Amino acid sequence: MTQTVAGAKKLFIKTYGCQMNVYDSQRMAEAMGAEGYVLTEDQSEADMVLLNTCHIREKAAEKLYSDLGRLKPLKAERPDLKIGVAGCVAQAEGEEIQRRMPIVDLVVGPQAYHRLPAMVKKGRGVDTEFPAEDKFEHLPKSPATRRAPAAFLTVQEGCDKFCAFCVVPYTRGAEVSRPVSRILAEATDLVSRGVREITLLGQNVNGWHGLGTDGAEWGFGRLIRLLAEVDGLDRIRYTTSHPNDMADDLIEAHRHEPKLMPYLHLPVQSGSDRILKAMNRKHTAEQYLRLIDRIKDARPDILLTSDFIVGFPGETDADHQATLDLVARVNFGTAFSFKYSPRPGTPAYDRPEVESAVADARLQELQALLSKQQKAAQESMVGRELSVLFEKPGRLPGQMVGKSDYLHAVFVEAPQAKVGDLVRVRITHSAPNSLAGELIG
Ligand code: 5AD
Ligand code: SF4
Repeated sequence: MTQTVAGAKKLFIKTYGCQMNVYDSQRMAEAMGAEGYVLTEDQSEADMVLLNTCHIREKAAEKLYSDLGRLKPLKAERPDLKIGVAGCVAQAEGEEIQRRMPIVDLVVGPQAYHRLPAMVKKGRGVDTEFPAEDKFEHLPKSPATRRAPAAFLTVQEGCDKFCAFCVVPYTRGAEVSRPVSRILAEATDLVSRGVREITLLGQNVNGWHGLGTDGAEWGFGRLIRLLAEVDGLDRIRYTTSHPNDMADDLIEAHRHEPKLMPYLHLPVQSGSDRILKAMNRKHTAEQYLRLIDRIKDARPDILLTSDFIVGFPGETDADHQATLDLVARVNFGTAFSFKYSPRPGTPAYDRPEVESAVADARLQELQALLSKQQKAAQESMVGRELSVLFEKPGRLPGQMVGKSDYLHAVFVEAPQAKVGDLVRVRITHSAPNSLAGELIG
């Protein structure tokens, strides 16, 4: 057996951007595994390098070209090295990538991953189509190997919301929901391979509306209730959600379903109604706040997180202050904030920009407030008893690290424990990016 692996071709994958790209990279690794490729973490020994890219902001997209520049000497040394570009930059720029960087052999968009093995055999090509067939059905089934205890599962892809700043509706395409039967089959397969926590993924995951087992269309809350019945699956999470798709049955699932973790990423982007309108978010700040109240009523301890964009075209000091006010009212457990980046092809692209230094200052101010809230949320965990799912050994001997219900990383001394154990822990310390705790009982 060692011989086959030693003789196998080696694949190096670098993943940029969101969790869906992480999931897609795993699926592509499995598809290439069926062709005899094994994963390597050492780019210099790879037979194929695959860059799974992100197009969300200019900086993310530009990273691809600097990484490709660094690959030039390796390709010059070993012309048979295959270089592939996948993901949202592949979708957005297609053939342009090969024109700019001739060392690239393959360009494959997110909806064409099932065709990757065939493209590799052909040698060179570009595929950024949105084929009618379901890529998930055509990707080779995963080999029956053990998996890490926490896994991702894509249930929905694409977006029909068309926020004025966002490339996702163009790179990932229209909203598509996978049917319940396939999601359930993938979830039970993951559980049979050691998975105890599943994060359901989608660009608008709470807008999922798929074909149910009874032939009717189901909503996302119902899907969660069904998955909660899977024996051996202990934790369910989901990301990313749109406020306008927080249906009543989903909020109720947070009230009644203990396997649904008390954590919700619900991007609001801005606290100013004028800017929300210009962003085409289709809700007001007040509507968001009322929604948060209903969610907290269902699950008072829920940890809320969000995304923010500062310096969106037209944003004034007063608009920025409205964002700070909203943050102060919600009290987020953590949040991601970005300086607006104009993206070609989006409605906001040509609008007059906020002065860069002004946007920088606003970003700093917002981030300072958000980190204060993050620190307070973390410190409020000290003294509490939480469950922790061990994901890997910690830095110190006998130490394990895992995630709490609220998704904080927790370090615990547990010499007898193994990866995949779900244990009760009393939190003893809060460090900048993690917690420490001790086993109970
Ligand atoms: N500029 C800055 N941030 C953006 N995001 C999406 N598009 C842009 C853009 N053009 C942010 C949003 C989104 C997150 C994934 O990335 O906050 O929720
Ligand atoms: Fe982009 Fe808006 Fe769709 Fe989210 S909801 S993926 S921000 S267009």
